[in-house]
Amino acid sequence: MLEHDVIIVGGGLAGCRAALEIKQTQPQLNVALIAKTHPIRSHSVAAQGGMAATLKNVDADDTWEAHAFDTVKGSDYLADQDAVEILTREAPDVVIELEHMGVLFSRLPDGRIAQRAFGGHSHRRTCYAADKTGHAILHELVSNLRRYGVLVYEEWYVMQLILQEGQAKGVVMFNIMNTHLQVVRAKAIMFATGGYGRVFNTTSNDFASTGDGLAMSALAGVPLEDMEFVQFHPTGLYPVGVLISEAVRGEGAYLINSEGDRFMANYAPSRMELAPRDITSRAIASEIRAGRGIHPDGSAGGPFVYLDLRHMGKEKIMSRIPFCWEEAHRLLGIDAVHEPMAVRPTVHYSMGGIPVNTDGQVRGGPEGLIESFFAAGECACVSVHGANRLGSNSLLECVVYGRRTGAAIARYVPNRKLPEIDESFYLQTTRAQIETLLNQSGSIRIAQLRQALQDCMTKYCGVFRTDESMTEGLKHLQHLKQQYQQIYLDDKGNNWNTEIVEALELQHLIIVGEIILTSALNRQESRGAHCREDYPERDDSNFLKHTLAFYSSAGIDLQYKPVTINLFEPQERKY
Ligand code: FUM
Repeated sequence: MLEHDVIIVGGGLAGCRAALEIKQTQPQLNVALIAKTHPIRSHSVAAQGGMAATLKNVDADDTWEAHAFDTVKGSDYLADQDAVEILTREAPDVVIELEHMGVLFSRLPDGRIAQRAFGGHSHRRTCYAADKTGHAILHELVSNLRRYGVLVYEEWYVMQLILQEGQAKGVVMFNIMNTHLQVVRAKAIMFATGGYGRVFNTTSNDFASTGDGLAMSALAGVPLEDMEFVQFHPTGLYPVGVLISEAVRGEGAYLINSEGDRFMANYAPSRMELAPRDITSRAIASEIRAGRGIHPDGSAGGPFVYLDLRHMGKEKIMSRIPFCWEEAHRLLGIDAVHEPMAVRPTVHYSMGGIPVNTDGQVRGGPEGLIESFFAAGECACVSVHGANRLGSNSLLECVVYGRRTGAAIARYVPNRKLPEIDESFYLQTTRAQIETLLNQSGSIRIAQLRQALQDCMTKYCGVFRTDESMTEGLKHLQHLKQQYQQIYLDDKGNNWNTEIVEALELQHLIIVGEIILTSALNRQESRGAHCREDYPERDDSNFLKHTLAFYSSAGIDLQYKPVTINLFEPQERKY
């Protein structure tokens, strides 16, 4: 059996930042990071628009309190305000720290870090590296992993979290290159496994965003918090769904319907295109529903609206948002200097996740913590985003809470012993799981079932939801779950058998989908990204609380826990 003091699963921003914090404070600890892709290919690399922090380089009157208020209001008052305070207070420090590490942020003419406007933020506070901010940060963090001696298992797929008697003890993983299985035990295990965008059929997320950490936690008995809150980014490039950064609107682009109107004036007159994402996505979806969308031939009634950059001019487009121009050009042949881009909402981010406290330690329920188990980043829910995340707060969360979680682990581990694990039991059961997949002689291909799941989730649990749609969605999902027993793999070998990974990922996607639908069905109100047409109002008397969903093969049990409100009393949310 392999053993390390600390195992971190996930090679994106939160995992890398935590690993560095541990090695910088406790260099003698043996820290291993396990990632199913090369860490540089983690989805954090695709983050574009930036990272919020009140550096005050552009707006001198900005404050952490204003950032905290914007975040809490953006969250539709579901965020835990103690966690938001930490996020926004620590933000300037983590940006400066990244800069000292070597991250190449874009600059103002006087050399200070540039800051741009972003949706739902009252000040220009988003620090950026053109529209490739995740790329700039992740490269620095990953090169520092080597420097500080973090061992990286790259292209190993973690397939099980070993959690017994309220303690996380290790994981079972296999090497994707040769399907070799290993049990790894550790004194602390951290999940930084990212999101689940691939549960839906149109997403800005990469192919690896399959909710593995969420599903493995759920299977191990850990509740998942607030999973009904799925963020739709307003501007996915139509029809592919890839991200066209909010930075494009932050730099001045307009949203236009088939009648040539800047329709955001009817939905968020004070913020226009820079309203929070839930509001902007609903506005676009409403325009499309009302027949004011656009068809590819330019006629009315189609499935997208226009994002118009033309007035911004070539120099600004190419210097501030070159990647977005390139994406539209490479994928669809659009030259955004001269033509508008076709956009519509695309699934982008999970506000919910593995519940954690502000040190990243995982909660086992409304009360109590799980020993040795930590999580940070998109897979975690410390709840700084509540029901709707503001753009540029997620890179920030990864770095602030990655750092805090790393620091907490560095304090926790020196007093712990390596746990006992029955290695042969775990090797046998996971080997049997793989053999079953390889040998079952069904008639359904993985891609076919995955597509059916993604279509089901998109149709029944999209931007707008009702009891009827979600009940139907759950029924359909149960049917798809049965069909999982009938998938077959073409590749029966052990060398780079990516079908095994896809089959396990599909199981995870189905579990996550079921938890999203069940949590959403039971929240009978509209709040943030969760928009119920049958319950159009926010209902603080009954639902100002976090959902905790406990998964089991017998069904999903829902419990609730209170929201921490220590800074701002809930108010009506208007923009
Ligand atoms: O639009 C964007 O660049 C995305 C940023 C974010 O999700 O924070």
